[in-house]
Formats: sequence, C-alpha cells, structure tokens
Amino acid sequence: MDDQSDGRQGNGRNLKLPVPGKRNILITSALPYVNNIPHLGTIIGCVLSADVFARYCRLRGYNAVYICGTDEYGTATETKAREENCTPQQICDKYYAIHKEVYDWFDICFDEFGRTSTPQQTEVCQSIFKKLMENGWLTENTMQQLFCETCNRFLADRLVEGSCPMLDCNNDSARGDQCDKCGKLLNPTELKDPRCKVCQARPCIRDTDHLFLELPLLKDKLEEYISDMSVAGSWSQNAIQTTYAWLKEGLKSRCITRDLKWGVPVPHEKFKDKVFYVWYDAPIGYISITSCYTPDWEKWWKNPEDVELYQFMGKDNVPFHTVMFPSTLIGTGEKWTLMKSISVTEYLRELH
Ligand code: 2FM
Ligand code: ZN
Repeated sequence: MDDQSDGRQGNGRNLKLPVPGKRNILITSALPYVNNIPHLGTIIGCVLSADVFARYCRLRGYNAVYICGTDEYGTATETKAREENCTPQQICDKYYAIHKEVYDWFDICFDEFGRTSTPQQTEVCQSIFKKLMENGWLTENTMQQLFCETCNRFLADRLVEGSCPMLDCNNDSARGDQCDKCGKLLNPTELKDPRCKVCQARPCIRDTDHLFLELPLLKDKLEEYISDMSVAGSWSQNAIQTTYAWLKEGLKSRCITRDLKWGVPVPHEKFKDKVFYVWYDAPIGYISITSCYTPDWEKWWKNPEDVELYQFMGKDNVPFHTVMFPSTLIGTGEKWTLMKSISVTEYLRELH
C-alpha cells in the first residue's frame, strides 16, 4: 500500500469508493475562480477548514474524499483573457497551475484538485440539463440586454458603465449592476449614456432568449429537503438564516444560460450558441472533478444512503449551495447525494 501519512492514497491506484456500512464522507470546498491568484481569504475561507475536517475524518478512520478545483468559465475569465491578450484556455491553464502550486505549498490534502473546463464537466452539465428539460422544469423567456456592435457581443452587467439614473447621484461611472456611489442596484438598461467598458462605444438594446430554472415549481421538494437536512446536518445559523431569507422572499425562476463563448455549450438547437451560466455549472464541477478522480463517481454522487456530503464555503456562496444546486439535482428526478452539512466562513477582514 502506498498510503500517505495523512490518509490519502497515492498515485491514482487505490482510489477510495464508498464502503457500505462505513461512514463515507464526501468533502468539497468552494471552487475558487481561476482568474486570480489565491489569497489568504480563499485559503481561510473554505480550503483550510475543509482540509482540517478531511484530516480529522481520516484519523477517525472514516472513508473520506476531499474534492476541489478551479472554477474556470464565465465573463471574468473572458475579460481577463482580453486584458492579457490571450485565449480563455491559456488564462485557465496559467492560473490553474498557480492555484495548484499554492495549495501544494500549503500541503492541502485534496484527493483531487481538478478544474471545470473539462470534457467531463460538459458531459455532466449537459446530461443534468437534459433531465431538467425532460421533466419540464425549464422555461424560455425573452430578456433585453445591452449589445455592443463594435465588439459584436452581449455585455455582461459589469462590462457596461454609464451615468447613474438616480436623480441626485451624478455618478457618471456607475456599473451595469450597481452604482458604487449611491449603492443602488441597477439593471444595465437603466444606465444613462451607457458605454461598453472594453471599447467605449454606446451599446444598443437587443432581445435575447434564455432558459430559466423554474424554482417556484420545485419549491415543495426543495423546502422538504431544507427542513429535513438543516436539522439532520446541523446547519449553522448563518446558513439557515440566508436560506430561509431566500425562501421567504419567494423563489423566482433563475436564468441558467448566457450569451458567452467560454462555457459549457447548451445542447439545444435554439440555444446552441449560448453557454450555461457559471452558477449553474460551477457546483456541477464538484461532480465532474470527482468523475476525473474515479470513473465510479456515481458511487459517491448518486448514493444518498451511504454517503454524507459536507460542503465548505464563504458566506456569499450559501444560497447557491442550499437552494440552486439542490434544486438542480432534485429536478433531475434522480437519486443524488445532496448536501448534508454546510460550513460557512465569514469574510476575512483586515484588522486595523
Ligand atoms: O465564489 C466563488 O469563488 C465561486 N467560484 C465559488 C464556486 S463554488 C462551487 F459552486 F463551485
Ligand atoms: Zn464594445
């Protein structure tokens, strides 16, 4: 046997699979965005606590795997690629290596540190999507979005700037999603004198069709999951509060597609030039990275009887893990391993 002292098994030979009758613990920490260099907040935010927990589990003799990796798709990567004058793939390759090196330096005991821009990710995202479609949980809707004719693309909210529409604000560089001066949350089409952040041209408004996950229709199943699991898994107060705040406000259907190139293509004739929204695909990264660890990944992920899923994250990630991701999995109608326990870290702040 080539076990390492911290209980990981090396060289891809003795891969761990759930053993019936044993405590089988699947541990994840939030997948860091690939487009920056990890900082202390990333490490303390979730990787370190999950690492400590994984080591504890192994010392107790539990059968634990710890999965993480970089979150690679979306606007942020496309923007960074433009800034650094290279392709999104090159950005991801460069920063994935940096992330890996930093975590290796800290000796974080991942069983697999993968990435989301893989064929496995495409496969899992698309197959979950097809199930959601078959089950009738997805609807089409038209939205209005700013389009830059010079750059020939739809602009993500943060890629538009303009004057804040609030009468007494006068900020002429409000972002499409928010005015940092007066704090007003904005819709990019509300900006006065909008301009494309990349080329400064004035964008126009275009209609664009998207697919939405009908959370309101999944509400009962989701609420049952949340009320059972938050007790069984002793969710922390901050996780419970945020989750119930979402439920109380009333679940809204959520757009799961985007007009981007760098992402998982939507396998649907009408939407084939679009990709999935990062927050649809990122949590699926946990699954696809596990499928890179072992071809028997379903024994971890489709085995709620034998596997306990523990997820670690920063506080801004909570609703994606307690509402969006479980709804996505529940909507397939298949027997997925849903999150049992959640560990939430508050933001790391500097002390002055
Ligand atoms: O907030 C973040 O850093 C996201 N990249 C976390 C994704 S967690 C999971 F869903 F992959
Ligand atoms: Zn432009």
